[in-house]
Amino acid sequence: MDFLSPHSSRVHMIDIHCHILPGLDDGARTMDEALAMARMAAVDGIDTLVASSHITPGVYDNSPGRIVAAAAAFGDRLYNEGIPLRIIPGADVRMSPELLNGSPRYLCINEDTPYFLFEFPHDLVPPGSERLVETLCGRGLVPVITHPERNMELQRRPEKLEPFVKMGCLVQITAMSLTGEFGPRAQAVAERYLKEGRVHLIATDAHDTEKRPPILSRAWRRAETLVGVEAARAMVFETPEKIVKGESVRSEKT
Ligand SMILES: [Fe+2]
Repeated sequence: MDFLSPHSSRVHMIDIHCHILPGLDDGARTMDEALAMARMAAVDGIDTLVASSHITPGVYDNSPGRIVAAAAAFGDRLYNEGIPLRIIPGADVRMSPELLNGSPRYLCINEDTPYFLFEFPHDLVPPGSERLVETLCGRGLVPVITHPERNMELQRRPEKLEPFVKMGCLVQITAMSLTGEFGPRAQAVAERYLKEGRVHLIATDAHDTEKRPPILSRAWRRAETLVGVEAARAMVFETPEKIVKGESVRSEKT
């Protein structure tokens, strides 16, 4: 298979962001498709995958309990199918004022870590975002800002990410941004953030096996050419491993 990485035998990658659970959002539609995604990820050299279904109020109202149960059932299914992939529950949490309400709906990676995937709307960084993030950080949470390079406002003004990094947020870019499939703007901003040392993680944000597949190795290779072997490796192995274990991750916060 042409996406098999020459790195695969050296390290087992961890994909921190993947919409693999069938029927919970706009990711895998069926169990068969989810299993095909799992096989593809395993062949690419991924051995641990955070099943991060959307939690978007009014669109994907997944409860944390529903995602945790689905992830556990899917992990059992993979074991029975002989697919060597560990599934960890998580969620792709859309930024929303509801996160500050009495019963906010979010799910941290592996349930009890401080880390959760935090997604801005596609077109802008909403007013009030900094205060919202500051409040979340004050509660001991660590937002992992997902694919800022695909946000239209940040594409125009990449420096607007800076305050969030200073507050202690981590930054995840999407593998296909780095390899150009999300267009030249997303690729340029992803490269800029990488070269500036802003990026902590590369993840697939996969939704299927064709248009948005769970392939991490190509972006890893690309990152190596931009930031070097060690830094690139940390983005697909050491840092995501610390996150799923709930260990501290160095941020740019000073
Ligand atoms: Fe996502």
